[in-house]
Amino acid sequence: MNQISIAIDGPSGAGKSTLARQAAQRLGFVYVDTGAIYRTVALYCLRSGVSAEDLSCVPALLPQIQVDIDYSSDGVQRMMLNGADVSEEIRLPEISMFTSVVSALPEVRQFLLEKQRELARTHDVIMDGRDIGTVVLPDATVKIYLTAAAEARAQRRCAELRQKGIDVSFDEVLRDVQERDYNDTHRAISPLKQADDARVLDTTCLNLGESLDVLVRLIQEGLPDAQRG
Ligand code: DC
Repeated sequence: MNQISIAIDGPSGAGKSTLARQAAQRLGFVYVDTGAIYRTVALYCLRSGVSAEDLSCVPALLPQIQVDIDYSSDGVQRMMLNGADVSEEIRLPEISMFTSVVSALPEVRQFLLEKQRELARTHDVIMDGRDIGTVVLPDATVKIYLTAAAEARAQRRCAELRQKGIDVSFDEVLRDVQERDYNDTHRAISPLKQADDARVLDTTCLNLGESLDVLVRLIQEGLPDAQRG
């Protein structure tokens, strides 16, 4: 039987990970956070001394990188880098910006393409990222483009960081969001863009619960009858 795949793309901070994870739980799909996979590769590069100004060594490092996703602890996705759990470390702000730069390299995208497709071949997935509906899974069962105004995304990111005790200014976070948007939409290979056949969900004026309800409804509307539950 063919697997069901739900592709969710959109800019940083639109709530993709939180919403996709919760939608996957509700619908009984495996959630794949592809940003976390890119972050894990970027972390290895950073630890190996690569800087954003000179990425020439990155292709040579790729064969040394083993990225695994471990779902054994109550279905939560843990990211394993060469056998070690790096799930916390990949969320550091400096990794976010560095990942945005490293993920623009064609060699890095190629390296991770088959890994993502393999996951979708073997599981019913909700996969979130930037190019899932356009490049990784162009035949996905349902495609969603999840977005929100940059200011709303920066506001949410600020609240999240402050809750973790990290003191940040709104302007700084907004600049960060805008810079990552620019990188992600302007890179030559697989830039972030809405797939022609994607449904758009703009969460600027919705809270988390409302966004989740709309997302689940959009997914269910796109599923074959037997899968709607
Ligand atoms: O979703 P995120 O913020 O964890 O993603 C981190 C970076 O990885 C983001 O700047 C863009 C990149 N990325 C990508 O290029 N392609 C994906 N499918 C997922 C993430």
